[in-house]
Amino acid sequence: MKTKKIFITGGAGYVGSSLVPKILQLGHEVVVFDLFMYGDVFFNIKKNPKLKLVKSDIRNSKDIRKHIKDCDTVIHLACISNDPSFELNPELGKSINYDAFKPLVEISKEEGIERFIYASSSSVYGVKNELEVTEDLSLEPLTDYSKYKALCEEILLSNKEKGFYPLIIRPATVCGYAQRLRLDLTVNILTNHAINNGIIKVFGGSQKRPNINIDDMTDLYLNCINYPLDKIDSKVFNVGYENHSIDEIADIVRNTLKKKIDIVHEKTDDLRSYHVSSKKIEKELGFVPKRTINEAVESINQAFNKKLITNSMIDNRYYNIKTMQNINLQ
Ligand SMILES: NC(=O)c1ccc[n+]([C@@H]2O[C@H](COP(=O)([O-])OP(=O)(O)OC[C@H]3O[C@@H](n4cnc5c(N)ncnc54)[C@H](O)[C@@H]3O)[C@@H](O)[C@H]2O)c1
Repeated sequence: MKTKKIFITGGAGYVGSSLVPKILQLGHEVVVFDLFMYGDVFFNIKKNPKLKLVKSDIRNSKDIRKHIKDCDTVIHLACISNDPSFELNPELGKSINYDAFKPLVEISKEEGIERFIYASSSSVYGVKNELEVTEDLSLEPLTDYSKYKALCEEILLSNKEKGFYPLIIRPATVCGYAQRLRLDLTVNILTNHAINNGIIKVFGGSQKRPNINIDDMTDLYLNCINYPLDKIDSKVFNVGYENHSIDEIADIVRNTLKKKIDIVHEKTDDLRSYHVSSKKIEKELGFVPKRTINEAVESINQAFNKKLITNSMIDNRYYNIKTMQNINLQ
């Protein structure tokens, strides 16, 4: 297999911290280009000569141009990556999630990048009545975070040309343990509360939330480095495991942890359901998520047992919004 050089923006985030070691294990070179908002997540692999860590901002075109040289693949993960953190400072959010995107794509093309893999989001659909939310349905994003994901997709596809192959992935919500852990995502929130408080609060419960285990998520990005170009060229794929309701997720968490956990229901006005179909990616790329939500819960449980997660209720680094409030990025 030909080794590659991969430029990963936001590579020191939740998804990146699981992805980068896997890519290195295959012998590829990696440039992580990140602000390292959540700290030094690669302390145990830092000395790997194939890993280059660049602390910089994706709004800094000069730095991107300097460090993307000789790379052949971009995986673009850098983002203000949830609604509340985006809404904290919408101008900042737009500058990172949208304004920086076009220059990044243009520099990538100028510097000879062959494949550009973009982490969009299944939230671009908004709420759909269709039972199967497939990639051809219209995008009706409900928040600015999702709106700019959708607009970046358009920019990327319009930049397609010979030798530059864009690929868009619309992932469900990720779950499970990673070196840089997020405890502000559905399954992970419920697991943290169940383990540490013995109680899960469910607001509503019937709303569906599609999820994907982080190991499947990062296996997919890993595969995307090598799928034949004609199979990924200008393609858009949803990816999720199962579309469970919050009630079902709470039950999965309780059953996995096998201890006394109270599930308490509270009222909410927001009973919006999100769900996605992942049939296209199975049919065209043969990709099927293999890990269950139970396994994701168990991975977090084990990490708690090994004391890999500390002060999980209060430490800012597990919560994007708290970190954003704390670092005062401009
Ligand atoms: N985690 C999920 O459930 C999920 C679901 C769907 C899509 N996504 C998308 O996948 C991507 C990765 O998600 P994640 O959960 O790993 O997010 P994350 O917040 O953990 O990581 C984002 C990383 O981007 C970096 N970053 C932010 N702004 C930057 C800037 N201006 N310059 C350089 N680096 C910057 C941060 O330091 C962080 O390391 C995001 O684009 C997100 O929107 C995630």
